[in-house]
Amino acid sequence: MDGNGRWAEMRGLPRFEGHKRGVGRVSEIVEAVKGIGGEVLSLYAFSIENWMRPEEEVSVIMALLETTLKNEFMNFMKGGIRFRIIGNKEKLPDNIRSIIELVEKETYNNKEFVLQCALSYGGRDEIIRAVRKAAALNPASEEITEEYLAGLLDTAGIPDPDLIIRTSGEQRLSNFLLWQSAYSEFYFTNTLWPDFTKAELMEAVHEYQMRSRRFGKVDNNKSFFAGNSFGIPSKWSE
Ligand code: IPE
Ligand code: MG
Repeated sequence: MDGNGRWAEMRGLPRFEGHKRGVGRVSEIVEAVKGIGGEVLSLYAFSIENWMRPEEEVSVIMALLETTLKNEFMNFMKGGIRFRIIGNKEKLPDNIRSIIELVEKETYNNKEFVLQCALSYGGRDEIIRAVRKAAALNPASEEITEEYLAGLLDTAGIPDPDLIIRTSGEQRLSNFLLWQSAYSEFYFTNTLWPDFTKAELMEAVHEYQMRSRRFGKVDNNKSFFAGNSFGIPSKWSE
């Protein structure tokens, strides 16, 4: 969700106004993803590197998160939304960690949708923490498979992302879901996050549907079936 700061600076407003506006975009996008049958939405809210931002900005972001969780809790329950955090929780202030854990616990059995928030998150940090967990479990070396390590990541049990959207014109991953993005499709847009609408999400999804996902294999569809010209993966090409 990049570009909040620039959105505000362009208007001569303090950066926190951009963050506030950015938070305001979230529910429309959650509803839109749910509406097209999406099951999981992951939002990169705050990276492990973001702790190095000025203390004032960090505390504004944490306060916004706290208010948002309090405001949205009933909507999570009504909408069957399970809320969870991925990231290094140890670095979070106690009050934020306890409200997050409460919301995670209360929404755990909600089955319609997973809203996964990357907070204090870094892909390398996540992998290191997974490797440390593995070391503590002391597995035999042949037990260490992709599935084994994936099961120790913060995203254990959550499918890898099909589509990753990055706003604000930057074209990099910035330590987001390094392991999980191995076969994700990417969509880059110059739109700043506070301006990102359902219409643009649908544009990204449409572009995604035009792509041919082969997962490193030959596209059997192309050679045997004339019909599927949009490259939508079917059970044959997966
Ligand atoms: C994204 O907006 C939100 C967070 C990283 C918390 P930025 O704050 O990175 O906005 P820009 O990149 O300065 O515009
Ligand atoms: Mg940024």
